[in-house]
Amino acid sequence: MLEALDFSIVDEIINKTGKGAEMAIPILQKIQEHFRYLPMGALERVCQITEITPSRLYGVATFYSQFRLEPVGEVIIKVCHGTACHVGGAATITQTLEEYLKISNGQTTVDKKYTLESVACVGCCSLAPVVLVGKDTHGKLTPVKVQETMDRYTGKSGGEK
Ligand code: FES
Repeated sequence: MLEALDFSIVDEIINKTGKGAEMAIPILQKIQEHFRYLPMGALERVCQITEITPSRLYGVATFYSQFRLEPVGEVIIKVCHGTACHVGGAATITQTLEEYLKISNGQTTVDKKYTLESVACVGCCSLAPVVLVGKDTHGKLTPVKVQETMDRYTGKSGGEK
């Protein structure tokens, strides 16, 4: 069932950014900052009150990989698949996380807690293979270490967080 969202924030955003067609990207960025994705109702509201057409807005939202049209979990787990991490076993790390979280890469857990993603180099190649859990960086991972790391977040080990 879809949750009811309050789109009054869209009006506030547009009051600040302006209504011009050239403002599509900043408007979408601000909406995503607020909802953590781009709800369809928010996009419809943008089209109602700006000069941006639905085809232009939807085109921008789907063209740029920074924008999400689906809700994400509270915590985004990003597995680096840059060259160093790829060589270091990123594919196995992703597979381990898929099994651990019982989702496929790109999906969100049923409890909406975690979303699993693959990303390009996150800039700390000496720590390869690297996983970001929210804002925390974890490096030199193995399948066992990544499970232990996740246990600390999920509380399975009885640890912190
Ligand atoms: S390739 Fe993974 S941090 Fe650079």
